[in-house]
Amino acid sequence: MNLIQWARSPWGERVPIHISWDLLWAAAIAGALFLIVHAIYVGYWAKPEAESPADSKAAAAAARVPERVARHSLGARLFHWVMAASMFALVLTAFLPKVGVKFSWVTIHWIAGVVLTISVLYHIIHATFWLDFWSIWPDKQDIEDASRRFNRAMGKPAPPPKKFGKYPLENKLFHLSVLFAGLAVIFTGIFMMYRVRTPFFTRNPYLFGDMTWGLMYVLHGLAGVGFVTLIMTHIYFAVRPEKVFLTKSMIFGWISRGKYLEHHDPERWPVGDAAPKARQSKAPEVVT
Ligand code: HEM
Repeated sequence: MNLIQWARSPWGERVPIHISWDLLWAAAIAGALFLIVHAIYVGYWAKPEAESPADSKAAAAAARVPERVARHSLGARLFHWVMAASMFALVLTAFLPKVGVKFSWVTIHWIAGVVLTISVLYHIIHATFWLDFWSIWPDKQDIEDASRRFNRAMGKPAPPPKKFGKYPLENKLFHLSVLFAGLAVIFTGIFMMYRVRTPFFTRNPYLFGDMTWGLMYVLHGLAGVGFVTLIMTHIYFAVRPEKVFLTKSMIFGWISRGKYLEHHDPERWPVGDAAPKARQSKAPEVVT
């Protein structure tokens, strides 16, 4: 299978023009296989995680947790859903024509691309100055816990892993993948807008040579098909029964005290009055 489609430039040079669209199917099949293998693993093999014993400090921290734990501010939720809508528009406009659904997609595509770009700029500023910036990056404890989990799954002796901070390692790795693929489609997409007519700049297909344009289209396409797998796995986890409370928190902004204590370590993710003052946000009051 050829991963790239090639062509001859007017100067006889062999240049890349796109990825091979077979990669779209490869990405969809990889996503489907992941879902099937994960569902079978969780359903038949995975054992419930043994909990690390709670010490008195942890018990005292648990006692201070409010009934509703604020998880995503309104600004963060709006960003998530604007990004999701633009991603859907981008993936559908890019790939429906490749599987035979013909329509004039380019204008809708670059407009959705501009919406994605603006939403990502907003997110970078919001996360840097208003959110807990470090909560989403893998840390030493995540690596140690992952190795403990792996050893225990292999039947080797290892101490029980700690509960998670705000985000489990899987979510942090997902965020990293979206970050790389997202920056790749945005950087290449902005330049690719010079190849089509937009109100922003004068069309200039000669901005780069054929080889540079070709590599740019290949990178855009590779990151683009990567999103097919990423979106499939993201939606699969969002609807899994044990994760639905997280999906609801992306709508309503909070998780229950019970879910917080079940999955999160109050020392790694301090909430309520224990949270650093700058980040204290309130979940809606519980009406009794
Ligand atoms: C999930 C995100 C995205 C996906 C899946 C995606 C996918 C694609 C694909 C597969 C193509 C066809 C490329 C080719 O013919 O080789 C394309 C073209 C294009 N993309 Fe994207 N893209 C995404 C994000 C963006 C963004 C953020 C922008 C702009 C900021 C953008 C702007 C463009 C433009 C202008 C074209 C048309 C180029 C042309 O027809 O010459 N895309 N995109």
